Amino acid sequence: MNKLRILLLGSGGRESALARKISQSPRCAALWIAPGNGGTDAYGTTVKTLSPLDFEAVERFVADNAVDLIVVGNEDPLVAGIYDYFEGRTPVVGPSKGAAALEGSKDFAKEFMARHNIPTAAYRTFTADTLAEGQAFLETLEAPYVLKADGLAAGKGVLIIPSLDEAKAALAEMLAGQFGESSRKVVIEEFLSGIECSVFVLTDGNGSYRVLPVAKDYKRVGEGDTGPNTGGMGAVSPVPFADDAFMAKVTERIIRPTVDGLRAEGLTYRGFIFLGLINVGGEPKVIEYNVRMGDPETEVVMPRLASDLVDLLEACAAGDLRDLPAAHDPRCAATVIAVSGGYPGSYPKGMIIEGNLDPADSIIFHAGTARDAEGRLVTSGGRVLAVTSYGDTLAEALGHSYDALADIRFDGMNYRRDIGRDVMK
Ligand code: AMP
Ligand code: GLY
Repeated sequence: MNKLRILLLGSGGRESALARKISQSPRCAALWIAPGNGGTDAYGTTVKTLSPLDFEAVERFVADNAVDLIVVGNEDPLVAGIYDYFEGRTPVVGPSKGAAALEGSKDFAKEFMARHNIPTAAYRTFTADTLAEGQAFLETLEAPYVLKADGLAAGKGVLIIPSLDEAKAALAEMLAGQFGESSRKVVIEEFLSGIECSVFVLTDGNGSYRVLPVAKDYKRVGEGDTGPNTGGMGAVSPVPFADDAFMAKVTERIIRPTVDGLRAEGLTYRGFIFLGLINVGGEPKVIEYNVRMGDPETEVVMPRLASDLVDLLEACAAGDLRDLPAAHDPRCAATVIAVSGGYPGSYPKGMIIEGNLDPADSIIFHAGTARDAEGRLVTSGGRVLAVTSYGDTLAEALGHSYDALADIRFDGMNYRRDIGRDVMK
């Protein structure tokens, strides 16, 4: 059996879940996680000082350690072109820079969907020169108004505004540089009403793909989906409404045309496609593309992937998924995120984490954790731990996660008590 030496880039709960799954493979000879977090040593070697955006440093690391495969967790290195940088030298799981624009530019993504008849919200794009037309366009829409900065804005670039006057003012502010370069173009969209889910596809760039378990994440900080948006407060998989009939539509109308469209346009894509979907009366529409796995969705998707991930990643990066399966574990999985007090606003760091971090019925994925000078585990980010559990039902899985959370403490720790409740009704 040939074994691979793998470098995984990123530092969140998503990377912890990918690292665990990679480390379980008999085909993994060595795994490094850069920059990793306070828990990634459980799966391999944490390389705290290596920045994923410093491609030259990554290149030196790859050469020094004979790395065979680079797996990229977050979007920034992909949008910056890490695939192209290593092309023909070290295989990278991910899209080329051109294809990563599906996440890097909302306008590009909307045009791509229009070219391939992929269902999504109606839209138009405006710049500072066309502010007046943009404001006139808003008048033709119904409230609420959806304004999106074209470029990456760390999840903050989407505004949903109840009143027309506020929407007009917000458009002017965005185009005046509220989100820097990212909002020099703004996409205005029709508001879609429905329940969202996240569909993940691994594609080899040559027309083959595998659909991974479907997940739903919980973005708002407060119970009942209230309060500001966060990176994600929890996730469940499977998603009861994403049944066979719904997924058949997703495959035919969205996945197939996306995979074929990328290929037809010569956009190399050998990696994970994240389809942020909304179910509008039984009809799936695309809210957004991301060019990576979701966080915290990965913390339930990877535990439900029954097949060997290294086999899949290697084949994907080689452009040939062949007949490899991506089998789904029939069990349910749920994850609940323990966040720092104050998150998603400002929050303290360095809070000591205590309690049982190795519970019998849950998997604890570290996200914003670090070791302090004395080697104690402390908080270092907003989302601190992802507590994942299996169950025969979502309710059972969630019960295990909440039991585990009851045994974990740090100053200011907060989590939502209602993860999954909306889809279990
Ligand atoms: P995005 O970054 O594009 O995923 O947008 C962030 C969130 O805003 C999404 O997860 C949705 O909850 C919401 N959203 C985005 N676009 C729309 C839309 N056209 N209609 C309704 N909600 C939307
Ligand atoms: N959970 C949503 C994301 O990863 O963007």
